[in-house]
Amino acid sequence: MADWTEGYISDINYTYGYYPYLNPNSVIIPFLRAGLEVPKFSTACELGFGQGISINTHAAASDIKWYGTDFNPAHASFAQEIADITDSDIHISDESFSEFCSRSDLPDFDFIGLHGIWSWISDDNRHIITDFLRRKLKVGGVLYISYNTLPGWSATAPIRHMLNQHDHMLGSRGQNMKKRVQASMDFTQNLLNICQPLVQQSPLIPQKIEQMQTQDRNYLAHEYFNSDWQPMYFSELSDWLSPTKATFACSPNVLEDFPHSNFTDEQLDFLNSLDDPMFIQSVKDYMRNTQFRQDFWVKGARNISTAKLEKTWQNLRFLMISNRQDITLNIEGNIGTIELLPNIYEPILDILADYKIHQVADIEQALPDSIKQSQLFEALSFLKAKNNIILVQDEQVIETVRQRCEKLNHYILQQSLVEQNITSLVSPLTGGAFSFSQFDLIFLHTYQQGKKSSTQLAEVAWQVLTQQSKHLVKKGKDLQTEEENLAELNNMATNFISNTLPLAKRLQIITD
Ligand SMILES: C[S@@+](CC[C@H](N)C(=O)[O-])C[C@H]1O[C@@H](n2cnc3c(N)ncnc32)[C@H](O)[C@@H]1O
Repeated sequence: MADWTEGYISDINYTYGYYPYLNPNSVIIPFLRAGLEVPKFSTACELGFGQGISINTHAAASDIKWYGTDFNPAHASFAQEIADITDSDIHISDESFSEFCSRSDLPDFDFIGLHGIWSWISDDNRHIITDFLRRKLKVGGVLYISYNTLPGWSATAPIRHMLNQHDHMLGSRGQNMKKRVQASMDFTQNLLNICQPLVQQSPLIPQKIEQMQTQDRNYLAHEYFNSDWQPMYFSELSDWLSPTKATFACSPNVLEDFPHSNFTDEQLDFLNSLDDPMFIQSVKDYMRNTQFRQDFWVKGARNISTAKLEKTWQNLRFLMISNRQDITLNIEGNIGTIELLPNIYEPILDILADYKIHQVADIEQALPDSIKQSQLFEALSFLKAKNNIILVQDEQVIETVRQRCEKLNHYILQQSLVEQNITSLVSPLTGGAFSFSQFDLIFLHTYQQGKKSSTQLAEVAWQVLTQQSKHLVKKGKDLQTEEENLAELNNMATNFISNTLPLAKRLQIITD
């Protein structure tokens, strides 16, 4: 019988991550910042959805019809279980890319997303995907793609090669994958300790493998142990995508595209001397030694007119989710911290500080004339990228998705009492999910059951820990007694009440 895995790791399942840039709503602000028309999204597709947390979140919290595939049947089965709970408009499949992409019953898509796929598949599969993008991504449609990038990977690529080689030559097929990962990691680390010329040339190698020793073994298996692994230069990806007619649009993270926090004056002068936008991306990757790129591409980029840009912005709605007093007026970039101007940001934050949804047109009206429209739009973009404020969907969409989000959150909160896998909860306001700590999930569940004081929250969390024969570790020290554990859980619960709970309420993840 043919091997369905195509050399891809299948005897250990992937992690339960959520990836916000797979949310089509995350296209809106970066596209406007890049001066591009924003398409309407009614159909979307995720290729290689893993455990399916992102695709299920986006199907539950939007009015978009979602399709997706992942050939690992354990992944597809878990994704389907969640889909059944939410009753969303979602079509889950366990077909390989070659089977799925050749189907004749699929619609054309406004959005196609692949996270953590492109670098870990064969050239044959890359051809299948580019052919699919050529045929099935609508004109005006958006592609989200992430991939391991050169030159960032060139120094540490020998680690991946040796891990894979060791597993291939000495890994025992009868042994479970986690043990094989550990054996190859230990072998490679021991080897690199005595590879002075290599380490001298690439001094980051020991640090990198040290850091890998702390990472989730399921993640490491999928990242480093597949038979295919191909980091690429931006220009190589661009060549691959050329037949699809998609061109580079922008980064999903507007802060990545903000030159002043990412490049020195000398680098900016260098970049300003270049004209070709694609070549500029390659040069930026050299300046930043980029290891991983996440980008939006668009099939048929169209510049938005000034009038439409203004109108689109004015119709957007925002809500502050951070506690006002915790918002810092700076952004972190590759070259350090950049201060944001208080005379622009403070008046905007003051308007948003009532934690109500505000339309941009109203914010603009309420601001002094000294703040220009372009400054307002930039400030909102940056505050959104810093996760201080969220972009809110249309009211009608929120009402359509509210019940589905409740069902999904209910399921995740229930499972937090017994398993530590999904750690994101979905907001009907944004169409996406937000990460919470394992204890915050237990506290949220308990709070919803009507136990609202820090003592009650701590007691339930302690019951959950004792049922799993676990206890807390604080600053590397095991907390042995019930008293010590309860005291620490009480601190955590107090912090939860002042920080996480208001956030979850503002996101309408839970109600009172
Ligand atoms: C690194 S994981 C990323 C999963 C998910 N996108 C995420 O980021 O959480 C890659 C996924 O692609 C799936 N995959 C790999 N090759 C595939 C193929 N040829 N057809 C369908 N799915 C494939 C794997 O089963 C795995 O779940």
